[in-house]
Amino acid sequence: MSRQDWTHQSRLEREARSMPLTGKTALVTGATSGIGKAIALAFAAAGADVLVHGRDTARASAVVERTTATEGKARAVTVDLGADPATVRDFAEGLGAVDILVNNAATLIPAQSMTEVTDQQISAALGVNVAAPIVLAGALVPGMKERGNGVIINIGSNTGIKGMAPAGLYGATKGALHALTRSWADELASAGIRVNAIAPGPTVTEDNIGYEEALIAIAQASPDRRPGTADEVARLAVFLAGPDAAHIHGAIIPIDGGSIAV
Ligand SMILES: NC(=O)c1ccc[n+]([C@@H]2O[C@H](COP(=O)([O-])OP(=O)(O)OC[C@H]3O[C@@H](n4cnc5c(N)ncnc54)[C@H](OP(=O)(O)O)[C@@H]3O)[C@@H](O)[C@H]2O)c1
Repeated sequence: MSRQDWTHQSRLEREARSMPLTGKTALVTGATSGIGKAIALAFAAAGADVLVHGRDTARASAVVERTTATEGKARAVTVDLGADPATVRDFAEGLGAVDILVNNAATLIPAQSMTEVTDQQISAALGVNVAAPIVLAGALVPGMKERGNGVIINIGSNTGIKGMAPAGLYGATKGALHALTRSWADELASAGIRVNAIAPGPTVTEDNIGYEEALIAIAQASPDRRPGTADEVARLAVFLAGPDAAHIHGAIIPIDGGSIAV
C-alpha cells in the first residue's frame, strides 16, 4: 500500500470511529429534555439521522435546531406515549425505517409512600414507562429484522435494580424494562438486533438543575459520591448503539458511580 493510500485509509478509519452512527436513523423518545436530549444531540454528532421525540413540537424543534451546531441531521416527531397503544403503534409505523430505538421517555412519579400512590399514577407509569416501549419495539422490530440489523437501548434506572423508598412504583417500571431488555436480547440476537439497557443513578441534566442538591445528597451514598451527568449517559448510549458494542447483548449497564455495587 502506498503512503498516500495508507494516509487516506487511516483518515477514513478515524472518521468512521468519530461518526460511528453514520447512515443510521435513531428514534430517541423523550428527547425534548434531560438525558434524552443529550442522547439525541450526541447521536446527531455521531452521524445519526435523529428523530427527536416529545409531546410538544416546539420543544422538540428546539432540540432539532441545536443539532445543526454539529451539522447533525434531525427532525421532530410527537406523540403522547400515554395514549392508547393503537395511537402509539400508528405513530411508530409512520416513521419509516428506524435502525436504533432508545426508549428513554418516562413518567417520573413523585416520591411518595406506596399507600399514597393514585390509580392515575399507576396507569400513567405503566403506560408510558412499560407499555409504550413494548408497543414501539413491537412496531419497529419487523423493519429491523428485514434489514438484518437494529439496536434497542432501554433507559432503566438503578432503582430498578436496588430498592429505594419511597420510589416503589417508579422502580417497578424500571425493573420491568430491565426484564424486557434481557428477554428481547434473547429473542432478537439471531436477527442481528442488539438490546441493552442503561441504568443511571442520580443524573444532573440541563433540565433538572433545581434538583441538583437532592441528586448530590442521594449520590453521597455511592463510591463516587457525585451524581452523573446527562453527557456521560449519552456517551454510553453512543457506544452501545455503535459497532464497538457488537458483542454486547442483554446487558443492564449501571452508570451510577458504583451505587449498586455497595
Ligand atoms: N435524571 C435522573 O436522575 C435519572 C436517573 C435514573 C434514570 N433516569 C431515566 O432517564 C430517563 C430520562 O430522565 P430525565 O431526567 O432526562 O427526564 P426529563 O428531563 O423529565 O425528560 C423526560 C422526557 O420524557 C418525555 N415524556 C414524559 N412523559 C411523556 C409522555 N406521556 N409522552 C411522551 N413523552 C413523554 C418528556 O417529554 P415532554 O417534553 O413532552 O415533557 C421528556 O422529553 C427516564 O427514563 C428516567 O427514568 C433519570
